[in-house]
Amino acid sequence: MSELPVVESDIFEVIGTQRAMRRLKPDPVPEEYIKKILWAATRAPSGGNRQNWRWLVVTDPEKKKQIQQWYKEGWDNLVASGYGNRPDLPPDEAASNERVMRSAQYLADHLHEVPVLIFACALLGPGQHDLTAGSSIYPAVQNLMLAARALGLGTALTTLHRIRQDDVRRLLGIPETVETAALIPVGWPRGRFGAGFRKPVEDVTYWEHWGNKRP
Ligand SMILES: Cc1cc2nc3c(=O)[nH]c(=O)nc-3n(C[C@H](O)[C@H](O)[C@H](O)COP(=O)(O)O)c2cc1C
Repeated sequence: MSELPVVESDIFEVIGTQRAMRRLKPDPVPEEYIKKILWAATRAPSGGNRQNWRWLVVTDPEKKKQIQQWYKEGWDNLVASGYGNRPDLPPDEAASNERVMRSAQYLADHLHEVPVLIFACALLGPGQHDLTAGSSIYPAVQNLMLAARALGLGTALTTLHRIRQDDVRRLLGIPETVETAALIPVGWPRGRFGAGFRKPVEDVTYWEHWGNKRP
């Protein structure tokens, strides 16, 4: 595999600054970059090492436009349901929530302009539609997004296309037995990478017994 310029090689810096990048330039992403982040994805662990994933890369403008329309429908439904309307949040979380809502709206309006859409597809056997079987795709998705960050590419984990999953399957020839678990837009970011809002470790970690916190 060809060597590509890594813009951030410190693993903790990569993890700490990999956030949902939804404002992406339309500029093309060379195929070596896509292959490299897919390499990273496919190094991930999976249940029984089955590697029951397939990756579908979409760059065709017409297909992307159709997918954007379905995705936007999912977003509009979510907004209409009151999602994002969280008046009781503390100020730092409320500010983060507002930023997420604004950038998610942008993505819903501009998804078709993103140069590459990658569908992370899970091959689930009969009776495997549970959390354990389904979760094997997500470590791979995270690997892909971290590798993209290291190469200077922006990504976001999205799922709103799933409201129209049957239509997406028909458009892309995906068998009915395959779950399109995530849709990952990939492109060069308009903004800068940086830390997203996350609660401190000590607020979300218990020691030895549920509820026991340590500073
Ligand atoms: C399972 C899952 C589904 C998600 N679905 C969407 C989605 O459909 N659209 C979207 O814009 N972001 C989606 N996200 C991204 C989250 O909104 C994002 O990770 C979170 O707000 C933190 O953002 P940050 O990394 O920029 O701080 C999803 C994230 C996860 C883990």
